[in-house]
Amino acid sequence: MKEKETGMGERIRRFSTSLIVEHWVHVFAFVVLVVTGISQKFFSLDLSRWLILKLGGIDNVRLIHRCAGIVFMVAASVHIVGASVGIVLKKRQPSMVITKNDLTDAVRDLRYYLGAENSPALCDRYTYKQKFEYWGILTGGLLMIATGLVLWFPTFVVGFLPGQVIPVAKALHSNEALVIILLIAVWHIYNSIFSPEVFPLDTSIFTGYISRERMSREHPLELMRIENRTQDEAGRKRRRKARKLETEEMSR
Ligand code: HEM
Repeated sequence: MKEKETGMGERIRRFSTSLIVEHWVHVFAFVVLVVTGISQKFFSLDLSRWLILKLGGIDNVRLIHRCAGIVFMVAASVHIVGASVGIVLKKRQPSMVITKNDLTDAVRDLRYYLGAENSPALCDRYTYKQKFEYWGILTGGLLMIATGLVLWFPTFVVGFLPGQVIPVAKALHSNEALVIILLIAVWHIYNSIFSPEVFPLDTSIFTGYISRERMSREHPLELMRIENRTQDEAGRKRRRKARKLETEEMSR
């Protein structure tokens, strides 16, 4: 879990390789979906027309959008199934679940920013802000998938649902796209690039590592758990070694 690095201070492993790959797949699919979706929504803009022509016409743009939609759906399903199975089999912690502590942490931070507390909230693996962002993107993403499928297979859908569902899906898909873009552009990009805490870039989701100094500031409870576990392991190793030496001496 922990690693000493000369010149760079102590770093702690925060994200596994599979989470790093998953993040890249989501970034790639999302960017393609936004570019091809927004150019359809604002088709009369010069920039959209230029892009649509560069991509070989509107049919190609729609095809690329649907292909990226498939990548997005697969990645979202892998994420949801992987997290649920991991939690049920107790191989993963339900660290993104919203708890009462998140509310008290938010209130404490608010009081801290207003000068009514001396220190900010002590957060665990994910702060209440990260959970808010995660659930916003996840629920928004699921809505985009559901409405995208309705737009993709309208004749199949009207076989068992009223026809009004199609324009509703279109309005939801089109407008939720803007909400999700704003959520990512304003909240996520601010937090991972422009926030003074991480500027010029929070590299943890790309390298998998975070500095100990940031961990102690942003996730002190998780750091405490990791360090207690490391100390316990070191203690166990020391005791095992001492027992081994004892038995060797007795057998001599
Ligand atoms: C977060 C991801 C997504 C964004 C930002 C996005 C954005 C958009 C936008 C802005 C439009 C144009 C709406 C309009 O003309 O007013 C659109 C259309 C469409 N989107 Fe998405 N979308 C996303 C995900 C998906 C997914 C996952 C699917 C597939 C399940 C999908 C399938 C479609 C379809 C079928 C259309 C209608 C245009 C066409 O026939 O190609 N979208 N999308």
